[in-house]
Amino acid sequence: MSDDRLIVALDVPNALEGLQLAETLGDAVGFYKIGLGMLTGGGLALANELKAEHGKKIFLDMKLFDIGNTVEAAVRGLAQFDLDFLTVHGDPHVVRAAQEGKGASDLKILAVTILTSLDRADLDASLIKPGDIQDLVLERAALAFDAGADGIIASPQEAKLIRALPEANGKLIVTPGVRPAGADRGDQKRIATPAQAVADGVDHIVVGRPICQADNPKAAAEAILAELSAH
Ligand code: C5P
Repeated sequence: MSDDRLIVALDVPNALEGLQLAETLGDAVGFYKIGLGMLTGGGLALANELKAEHGKKIFLDMKLFDIGNTVEAAVRGLAQFDLDFLTVHGDPHVVRAAQEGKGASDLKILAVTILTSLDRADLDASLIKPGDIQDLVLERAALAFDAGADGIIASPQEAKLIRALPEANGKLIVTPGVRPAGADRGDQKRIATPAQAVADGVDHIVVGRPICQADNPKAAAEAILAELSAH
């Protein structure tokens, strides 16, 4: 049985390479994240194949944001595919619409609070209210939970603070920016090891390049799984 706390981001150029990577990883990995880049080039077909033919869990990282009616319709469409996680922006009207759209399906709606690529100057340019980004992240996380989000996407630094929110009780925290000790951090600025993330109350870690770009992806995944299984 795979340890589904590890989600591998299939950040490869096309669906064929995604399938090949999943076949290389085999039974070791049971959960894959498919992002927008892949989704615009056959990613939904790949998601369905990984689900139906290989029994994998699927996280669609679409970060939906639109008027409620459109979000609801989009999620209703996706809910037919028996997928597992879907991201939307954490604005309460978007989260509520996504929950309506998922209906009775088991799809989990995960909310994004503030994109980690944004700094205070970017928020000012978007007319987002003043304040420390971390405080705004916590406020948005609480609002998204109140609106019905099943979980939150959080950086390792935010995870512990979000886990401490009363609104987060029973909810999922899913964290990218995870690097095994000694691994290349790439462009990730705020990182944690798998062990640290789990200790901070994270339910699932998302790891891309340390596995996808490894000389031996299966060995890289197994090393991360070994670190997780010790915790
Ligand atoms: O290669 P790496 O392990 O950094 O990949 C992390 C994955 O999580 C990528 O698919 C990236 O787009 C995604 N992600 C992230 N930081 C966020 C949100 C998503 O790294 N704040």
